Amino acid sequence: MRGSTLKPGLDGLLQLIDRDFPLPARHKAALPDGIAELSRLLTSERSLREGGYMSRPGLRAAYLRYFLPWNVFKLTALFSQMEAEGAIFLNGGIAAENSLVIADLGSGPLTLPLALWSAFPLMRKKPASIYCVDKNARALEDGQKLFNAFANGVYTKSVNSAAGAQPHWNIKTIKADAAQPKLRQKAALVTAFNLYNEMIAGIPQGDTEALRTFARKTARTLANCADKNGSIFVGEPGTPACGQFLSLLRGAFLELGWQPICPCPHNGICPMPGGRKGAKWCHFVFDNRLIDAAPAALRALSKNAGLTKTRLTMSFVSFCRAENTAVKAAHNRLKMRVLSAPVRLPDGNTGVYACSSLGLALIRGKHPDTAPEFGALVERAVPSRHEYDKKTGALLV
Ligand SMILES: C[S@@+](CC[C@H](N)C(=O)[O-])C[C@H]1O[C@@H](n2cnc3c(N)ncnc32)[C@H](O)[C@@H]1O
Repeated sequence: MRGSTLKPGLDGLLQLIDRDFPLPARHKAALPDGIAELSRLLTSERSLREGGYMSRPGLRAAYLRYFLPWNVFKLTALFSQMEAEGAIFLNGGIAAENSLVIADLGSGPLTLPLALWSAFPLMRKKPASIYCVDKNARALEDGQKLFNAFANGVYTKSVNSAAGAQPHWNIKTIKADAAQPKLRQKAALVTAFNLYNEMIAGIPQGDTEALRTFARKTARTLANCADKNGSIFVGEPGTPACGQFLSLLRGAFLELGWQPICPCPHNGICPMPGGRKGAKWCHFVFDNRLIDAAPAALRALSKNAGLTKTRLTMSFVSFCRAENTAVKAAHNRLKMRVLSAPVRLPDGNTGVYACSSLGLALIRGKHPDTAPEFGALVERAVPSRHEYDKKTGALLV
């Protein structure tokens, strides 16, 4: 994912968190340890999450100060890049003249609404109802307070350039299970970020059928939340388990008559479904320049917690109803989504791996400098003869 479009300014948000959620001195000193503990809970020690880390004030503070800003940062970068390219959501959601309804499931402290506000300045002017659903009411309360302060610009303009616009976004928090979100309205945009990895944690690893059943149920729940022109965005950590889940979710949406908008360049079989040891799974690695562009205070916090960032990754898919999408590529053109950094090939050329309707593709070129970037959508003529890379089986383009 490119560095050039990655300029989400988060300093103001960090200052707001410090101002509106002040930490007593002794808690401040314990913050790096809290962050490290929460990081273990969120990754390796999955079973410990059962107790609900958002209910523990120290861990909620760690989430707010560390995980929330990094997530807003990543999402803002992703939304800015993908929207510039064409669409991550259907235009109807973002560009519609009338008011906008958004539903965010597993919203926590409203990370995703904050990222939408940050990434889409034009949306800020539109009246919107944002339904934020989470099983933890305290996280939602924190998020509502933070969002209103961020969007209202109640701090000085120098704190954040997002200030100044009069917000029309009405935040409605709902304490509910994401499997039964209890929305009062259908939404033009339904989102869930970093939620389903927690909901699938109880499914035994390797039980693909159980995961598929959960994916089907989830697709129905999400589709039910969306209005007839609605789009859905689901993002998760870039782990093999989440990549597999999102590939199954994509299959479940196709069964329902929906189709992927982004990043998938086609509706065919997912060539990166993960699920087996060593199998490729769909995920994106952000350009490392994004890490350098993060606020210094956030990078320092990472370092102090022993979690210096070296890679930012994410798996995601967005969907809409099939009848709402524009025509895909002409039959003699092949659309591909680049899914790797350039690699040196044995013949001295450079290649990048990409997802296509013809399966995994290897796009070859002479120079690394001219190779398409990670995350880019590229289109080439369909090769007249199908030749495959001996090592990976990828179609040579
Ligand atoms: C890792 S946090 C993500 C928060 C926010 N979306 C973000 O990306 O920063 C996961 C959130 O999902 C919530 N959650 C987990 N399982 C849930 C469920 N079954 N129903 C509703 N919320 C749930 C947790 O309470 C927590 O706030």
